[in-house]
Amino acid sequence: MSLMPSRTRPRLPLLTNGPRGSRSVATCHYRCGDACDQPEPNTSGNEHVSSVMGRAASRRSVLGTAGFGAGALALTAIGGSRAAAARPATPAPRGGASVASDAFTPVAPNVRDSVVVPEGYRQRTVIAWGDPVVSGAPRFDPRRQTPASAARQFGYNCDYVGVVPLSGASALLVVNHEYTNEELMFPAGVYDDDEIRRIAIESHGMSVVKIHRVGGPRSGDWAVSDVDNRYNRRITGTTPFELVGPAAADSRLRTSADPTGRRVLGTFNNCAGGTTPWGTVLSGEENFNQYFGATGPVDDRYASSYERYGVSGSASRAWHEVDERFDLAKEPHEPFRFGWVVELDPMDPSSTPRKQTMLGRFKHEGANVTIAKSGHAVAYMGDDERGDYIYKFVSAETFDPRDTQSARRHNLTLLTKGTLHVARLTGDDAVQRDASGSFVAGDGEYDGTGEWIPLTSDTTSYVPGWSVADVLIDTRLAADTVAPTRMDRPEDVEPNPVNGRVYLALTNNSRRGSAWETDEANPLASSQTRSALGAPLSRTSGNRNGYVLELTEDGGDHTGTTFGWTLMLVCGDPEAPETYFAGFPKDRVSPISCPDNVAFDEAGNLWISTDGNQLGSHDGLFRVPVEGPERGLVQQFLTVPVGAECCGPLVSNADQSVWVAVQHPGEDDGSTYASPASTWPHTHDFPRPGVVVVWKP
Ligand code: FEO
Ligand code: CA
Ligand code: CA
Repeated sequence: MSLMPSRTRPRLPLLTNGPRGSRSVATCHYRCGDACDQPEPNTSGNEHVSSVMGRAASRRSVLGTAGFGAGALALTAIGGSRAAAARPATPAPRGGASVASDAFTPVAPNVRDSVVVPEGYRQRTVIAWGDPVVSGAPRFDPRRQTPASAARQFGYNCDYVGVVPLSGASALLVVNHEYTNEELMFPAGVYDDDEIRRIAIESHGMSVVKIHRVGGPRSGDWAVSDVDNRYNRRITGTTPFELVGPAAADSRLRTSADPTGRRVLGTFNNCAGGTTPWGTVLSGEENFNQYFGATGPVDDRYASSYERYGVSGSASRAWHEVDERFDLAKEPHEPFRFGWVVELDPMDPSSTPRKQTMLGRFKHEGANVTIAKSGHAVAYMGDDERGDYIYKFVSAETFDPRDTQSARRHNLTLLTKGTLHVARLTGDDAVQRDASGSFVAGDGEYDGTGEWIPLTSDTTSYVPGWSVADVLIDTRLAADTVAPTRMDRPEDVEPNPVNGRVYLALTNNSRRGSAWETDEANPLASSQTRSALGAPLSRTSGNRNGYVLELTEDGGDHTGTTFGWTLMLVCGDPEAPETYFAGFPKDRVSPISCPDNVAFDEAGNLWISTDGNQLGSHDGLFRVPVEGPERGLVQQFLTVPVGAECCGPLVSNADQSVWVAVQHPGEDDGSTYASPASTWPHTHDFPRPGVVVVWKP
């Protein structure tokens, strides 16, 4: 494959115009590398779901409680002990505020440049871009940024939010910094392009920040502690990582700087994540492909892999101009060292973070671990691309719930050995499509059954002709051979610690119906398809607004290989005929569009944050019960400022605080540092991505 040299690349600003899905041109460009403009990377000839339908009647397993799985919530709740990780979540004491059960007046759709919360709640911006994280961090000055200052300050575009309890009223806030928007970060004429690139590399990654409770013992108000403590840490695009698991040291993971194939510098495009029952934080390397350029012809050997992952060598970020490892013509293996789930132990500030090859390589949204009844650790994962897949990892060994050093050492190995699976979903209705190309559910519900298809264990590949390392490094290509279901952008996939079911955010798909036919799990044709077929169009038509899928493992066994599923929510304007809210009366729900990340409270209610609202108002956070008479009652809890998506989210059992990350405020088209669309959090005259805690006094 020969790629055009990129020496003729344009100088900053870098935006081009083109067709887009649900986001601004700026967000598509900076976050995803204009993925919407590229051909569908999944051109595999999978058996289509529609051709294997009708085999099984819908059924729903009866589940017990989630066993150790509930511990994940207990640990992520602030104020618990490490031992509490193995205990189920407990309801808040009577008399205290409960975001799980308290009624609130839903926040109305709006376009305000602020975080809008329900009446009676308060909020604090805990930390924002440029705030000090580690000792020696200079005071934030947007005109005097350096790589060294960025490596000590809170990075840009916060996404995942995890809170790991310390003793007493302290905790560690762990946050991803997904990507940078150079037009909003840098005043014109102050920096040259290479300075901007070096600062941007250090503004990616993760932050670990010690925080403490403000107010009484059950207050949900938290603030950043003095940065001079042993825990605070910045992980950036140059921090050393260790590659672990079965693919580590494979020849494709070796570079001139690292002949061992075990040591990688940095992580980037870290999107969502999860806090494990053993207290580590997982973080997904998502759109890693957009960081690689090419100054000359590229090695043909990796053409199919590069293509399947969108590694084109045309990265407009042009990091290869300041670091040759990002130049495909010089280091063809460097892209294979990204696209992993990374595991960070925030409790051990001297530990080297790890890239877990056993969890496969794709555009990882995140990874969420539960402990099965058998004690095995099970990680659920989505590959966030139009037409890509849902994955599950089951550990070979079992979780040790004891609060001992030996248990801790053992648990830190759980993700290195086990079996990686990919999901195939089968509908229970015969194939029938309407005039728009959308799938018609004959029984009135989009639902069916599914199976987890094993791809590889740590010792045995189940893909004929592929080694274990082949499957783990080119996971998308390996999965293509076993006919999984091509989904409409699988983002967060998270087990509910109360009812044991698994909830998936399927954000949207602007090509469904053209690139791939609709099916029962991905039923709505895109607006483009509708247009091509002459079907009526509105801003709500087609799959612009996404779904929430509820997956029920058969027998409640997270290690099993069969499941049932239903589209619990078909998002959008409740007045639009195609929307569905688990059967709840549509005149009582909040409009919701583009579900992205999910979380749960102590009652098992689902909390959904959105990215790319197509309904004319801002993104936000929603609460929706999944059981009882209010199942499907979607209510908006907050909205985020102009141009932002709502990330994070986290609901603490211990003090009923609700956490969100406000990512890319002001990222509207034409918005720049000098003329921004937002100035949130209103500390400066330009926007600063930041983490917000909301609580009820
Ligand atoms: Fe970074 Fe899939 O959103
Ligand atoms: Ca059905
Ligand atoms: Ca996301």
